[in-house]
Amino acid sequence: MHGDRVVGFISGATRGIGFALTSLLAQRDDVLIFAGARDPANALPLQELAEKTGKVIPVKLEAANEADAAALVKLVEQKAGKVDVLVNNAGIAEDFNKPVLATPPASFTKQFTVNALGALVLFQHLHPLLIKSSSPRFFAITSSAGSTGSIALIPLSLAAYGSSKAALNHLVAHIAREHGEKDNLIATLHGEKDGLVAAVVHPGFVGTDMAKAAMEAVGLTLDAQIPGIQMLTPDESAAALVKIYDEAKRETHGGRFFSYDGSQIPW
Ligand SMILES: NC(=O)c1ccc[n+]([C@@H]2O[C@H](COP(=O)([O-])OP(=O)(O)OC[C@H]3O[C@@H](n4cnc5c(N)ncnc54)[C@H](OP(=O)(O)O)[C@@H]3O)[C@@H](O)[C@H]2O)c1
Repeated sequence: MHGDRVVGFISGATRGIGFALTSLLAQRDDVLIFAGARDPANALPLQELAEKTGKVIPVKLEAANEADAAALVKLVEQKAGKVDVLVNNAGIAEDFNKPVLATPPASFTKQFTVNALGALVLFQHLHPLLIKSSSPRFFAITSSAGSTGSIALIPLSLAAYGSSKAALNHLVAHIAREHGEKDNLIATLHGEKDGLVAAVVHPGFVGTDMAKAAMEAVGLTLDAQIPGIQMLTPDESAAALVKIYDEAKRETHGGRFFSYDGSQIPW
């Protein structure tokens, strides 16, 4: 028996938003957070957090690696028996401001693999543990750059990254439809009405290594002011994301595309 402890898994937990989310959730009582890292032994801040709190378990997870995902499932099964909140956060963004004609297909493949297939592999492997939860939730950290409907508002050309996040969004919309909507023919046909809440959330423009690279690509530093764009700290973004995770219900959040402030973003 594992009691009422809330069990989470966060991918890409070594730094940036993933680390801030892991740190924030680990402040709660009665939680256990499995924290994905490509190289856990050398993820020093994560190791320190694990030692300090006793509520974080660093786990090896390279995005889209099925062997890693299978080993993760075994570990979680053994230590916790379920997952309540699954957060697919690991992501990469490359080729900032390169037009489509100048972006190599290999760059698309790489970003699709990490940003979209990473979420697919994670969900496929962890689904049996998610549905052991009385309140299963799956959130993918996406980006407003993946919103086809607001492409004109994105200040950079981000074809490969944006397409990979649009693919992630589409995937999660399918997952939400197949796994929890009431009176839904697809869910009925698949027999998958397991009450899962699945949604994608844009974390804001957040001062991480990824944002630094984006700014540098257009000749700016991380502290430059861009009119109309507010830069959040990783901790501010994590607090906003956790608020959404806590409030999420299938009826109000399932299959939707949110921004960190709770507003909805067009697909
Ligand atoms: N920062 C922003 O303004 C912003 C805006 C919109 C969306 N996002 C999204 O937010 C998420 C987190 O971004 P961030 O800003 O925190 O980025 P970050 O500081 O660059 O951190 C990225 C995280 O993903 C992990 N990662 C990268 N490639 C991986 C792979 N192949 N397999 C497993 N893990 C991998 C990194 O691990 P290592 O330490 O091992 O490299 C790191 O933990 C991403 O999905 C990103 O697209 C960020």
